[in-house]
Amino acid sequence: MVAKPESVIQLERVSLHYGGDDVICDVNLNIRRGETKIILGTSGVGKSTILKSILGLLRPKSGKIYIHGEDITGLKEREMVRLRLRMAIVFQQGALFDSMTVGENVSYRLREFNLVEKEKIEARVEEVLKFVGLQGAKKLKPSQLSGGMKKRVAIARALAPDPEIFLFDEPTVGLDPINLYNIEQLIMKLKERRDRTLVIVTHDVESAFRLGDSIVMLHEGKFIFEGPPEELKKSPDERIQTFLDPISFYSKKAR
Ligand SMILES: Nc1ncnc2c1ncn2[C@@H]1O[C@H](COP(=O)(O)OP(=O)(O)OP(=O)(O)O)[C@@H](O)[C@H]1O
Ligand SMILES: [Mg+2]
Repeated sequence: MVAKPESVIQLERVSLHYGGDDVICDVNLNIRRGETKIILGTSGVGKSTILKSILGLLRPKSGKIYIHGEDITGLKEREMVRLRLRMAIVFQQGALFDSMTVGENVSYRLREFNLVEKEKIEARVEEVLKFVGLQGAKKLKPSQLSGGMKKRVAIARALAPDPEIFLFDEPTVGLDPINLYNIEQLIMKLKERRDRTLVIVTHDVESAFRLGDSIVMLHEGKFIFEGPPEELKKSPDERIQTFLDPISFYSKKAR
């Protein structure tokens, strides 16, 4: 098995499990530089599990994972830390440090890994908080923020080290329409920088259609579709149609 040169993230016949049955069974995935790939699927199907494997937090039972062409499956934890610095994840739950201010949360990785000269940290924090529209929030604690604001801080924190790969785990779940729009606009702004690669995990079909260049659909441990959003909509596959539009699918069946 060889890494494809154009792939930023590549999964080759990867199976993943937590000790019991395989959650992900023998899947292939290629994500190119500058691409926004959506991983779509019902709750519990294994979407976050795939992100964990890309971050090297969960080692595959079998198969290989390449990041920037480098096989990460056998890397030591120390080497994984180096690789993770080129990636950023916005976790499903936001996962901010509650005891730290917004500014400290955002600058955490910069300080911890000496990624930016000390004098430049504050300017970088200001810059990314401005990007997410939260200039005034630097001194607040996470407990003082709304859910949508927390998501934006989590994005600012991910942005701070200027990573090449962004992994988003359910970035729009639980948001009201205005915040949903704001977060999608932020992701669109990231997409405009064509050298950044985005992987977005979601079960929000409409959001997937708006944000994705390409969608993969996960079902029972396998990818049952890969292609542009328009093609997913047209797919005759019953499993896909049920997921995309359960109401009309079941009402047609009832007739
Ligand atoms: N740490 C863990 N230990 C054991 N089983 C786990 C662990 N994390 C996830 N699982 C199991 O793996 C399966 C996939 O979980 P995962 O979190 O990847 O799903 P998901 O597609 O992200 O779901 P959701 O949309 O609800 O976030 C589930 O059956 C879950 O119970
Ligand atoms: Mg999940």
